[in-house]
Amino acid sequence: LARGVAEPDLAGRHVVVSAGGTREPLDPVRFLGNRSSGKQGYALARTAAARGARVTLVAANASLPDPAGVDVVPVGTAVELREAMLRAAADADAVVMAAAVADFRPAAYAAGKIKKKGDQEPAPIALVRNPDILAEIAADRPRSGQVVVGFAAETDDVLANGRAKLKRKGCDLLVVNEVGERKTFGSEENEAVVLGADGSETPVAHGPKEALAETVWDLVAERLG
Ligand code: CTP
Ligand code: CA
Repeated sequence: LARGVAEPDLAGRHVVVSAGGTREPLDPVRFLGNRSSGKQGYALARTAAARGARVTLVAANASLPDPAGVDVVPVGTAVELREAMLRAAADADAVVMAAAVADFRPAAYAAGKIKKKGDQEPAPIALVRNPDILAEIAADRPRSGQVVVGFAAETDDVLANGRAKLKRKGCDLLVVNEVGERKTFGSEENEAVVLGADGSETPVAHGPKEALAETVWDLVAERLG
């Protein structure tokens, strides 16, 4: 989908996008992380800026250049991501959670590097749950009429899982990707279906992450009226 001239249909709007993947530290040198590159979130930020929006990009550990004209807020952990998102969402017209948030974090942080003990086997790592940022923002809607969008990578019955997740999260739109060995993570391209809380289903053909981003903003713009 090539837009010769960007449509400024998001002019005067503030949109907040999260990107990348959180890292949950175990000790000063190690963390639990995931494979999210941040490319989809950055594509969302770039395309929204091109369509005239003021964009806040909350970036979790993404090694990508700051998009021009976008306010980038770097974060590390899910707890930091939550704080940055809640702050930015307070006056946002739309919130898009493209970041991969760790569901769990280590229950304890070791201030010193964890060392091996003789030839003993390691102790298991205790985990606790992280806050669900998308569900929290969708439930609170700090600004009325705010459009809230989530992303989900699913396997098996992708659509049924997506529908159930959309309902559970309480968001307006859920972009559902099917993941496999070489699909999605780190790739330049994406293929998805966008599920709406109104029952709508918008397929997005395999293509660049920008094309999926444009479809997301089309659906957001419709809902902003
Ligand atoms: N998400 C979030 N906070 C979390 C976990 C996920 O805001 N603690 C957001 C993600 O950014 C994404 C959406 O919720 O937009 C769906 O993430 P996903 O991991 O698919 O959802 P979970 O509820 O964690 O479900 P699962 O058990 O399948 O991982
Ligand atoms: Ca999860």
